[in-house]
Amino acid sequence: MSESFEPKNIIVTGGCGFIGSNFVRWMVANHPECHVTVLDKLTYAGNPKNIAGLPESQVELVVGDICDADLLDRIVPGHDAIVHYAAESHNDNSIFDPEPFVRTNVVGTYRLLHVAGRYDIRYHHVSTDEVYGDLDLDEPRRFEPDDPYKPSSPYSSTKASSDLLVRAWHRTYGIRATISNCSNNYGPYQHVEKFIPRQITNVLCGIRPKLYGTGKNVRDWIHTEDHSRAVWDILAKGRIGETYLIGANGERSNIDVLRSILSAMGQPEDAFDWVRDRPGHDRRYSIDSAKLEDELGWRPIHADFGEGLDQTIEWYRDHESWWRPAKETTERKYAAQGQ
Ligand code: NAD
Ligand code: DAU
Repeated sequence: MSESFEPKNIIVTGGCGFIGSNFVRWMVANHPECHVTVLDKLTYAGNPKNIAGLPESQVELVVGDICDADLLDRIVPGHDAIVHYAAESHNDNSIFDPEPFVRTNVVGTYRLLHVAGRYDIRYHHVSTDEVYGDLDLDEPRRFEPDDPYKPSSPYSSTKASSDLLVRAWHRTYGIRATISNCSNNYGPYQHVEKFIPRQITNVLCGIRPKLYGTGKNVRDWIHTEDHSRAVWDILAKGRIGETYLIGANGERSNIDVLRSILSAMGQPEDAFDWVRDRPGHDRRYSIDSAKLEDELGWRPIHADFGEGLDQTIEWYRDHESWWRPAKETTERKYAAQGQ
């Protein structure tokens, strides 16, 4: 049976990143009764502009590291929930420099679990479908919550490690925890290192989009606002100790997504470059979100991927000052990697 919980004062880690900031903006729009403390280190991926203009009475930003135990001891007491988004999140970066991933994703999660236990705070852990490894392109199967963990990359193995810590801390110390594993998000405010914004901003800059390998790899796309609604539903109504998968039936090959971007932006469908594949590149992700839908009544609202993509392209056209500062460095880094 679901347990009902009405948080009034939550900590959102990584609330200046792509998905965490969407959750913070969604909270302001939908739950004005709840105060949000954002804890964010402001790495290259964190941008305070993502939560700028929100009411100071409802949202406070603390700039700091989730690995800093003293800081956590100072700021966590008095809150009734931690929603943990903060992570090093990009696979390609993890392949070339894994250490920050081990530190933030594993040690950082350990520190948060420790403090959640000490002050008996409800804890929700935001994770990824990549912990389950990958599927064959034509396999008639989707990921399910109890599937074995088989991560492929340094990034996904650190996320898998963090999930296992959460499961153990729930069982051994009784932490009131839930876990969600979501598929690939898209929408506004996503860093230009990621697939969809990289290609959109490449076109806007007159650079040819870049496709890895064969382009046949499949990702299961979900609009980030649907992810935020699901996280709230799990926090408020989810069963303690459970894992919920979040996905919106959005499977598409990379080449199909790229062709949709090119077509929506008035480019020929072959106006891109094939580049070096990602080592260990996962073939396909596919989410079965039946548990979330059946138990908690969640449904995706942004079910039309084409419409969501058009709105996302529009957002990047209108917000060049937001993405421009990161573009050159990001492309220089990719070029050095042959990507
Ligand atoms: P992001 O890289 O855009 O944002 C990460 C945020 O965490 C940034 O604001 C960064 O400054 C902050 N951060 C990093 N290290 C920190 C530390 N040590 N202390 C405090 N803050 C720190 O990531 P995202 O794409 O928004 O992903 C957010 C979460 O969702 C991650 O846990 C990721 O694994 C998970 N997730 C992402 C996707 C996706 O498609 N992007 C899908 C499923 C799950
Ligand atoms: O599945 C959830 C995961 O989705 C999250 O856990 C990660 O944080 C998030 O980054 C994302 O991981 P992916 O590796 O799937 O996303 P990325 O945007 O890096 O790449 C999507 C696909 O596009 C992947 O198959 C690699 C390919 N790609 C990527 C880039 C950046 C290209 O073909 N060209 C590119 O330029």
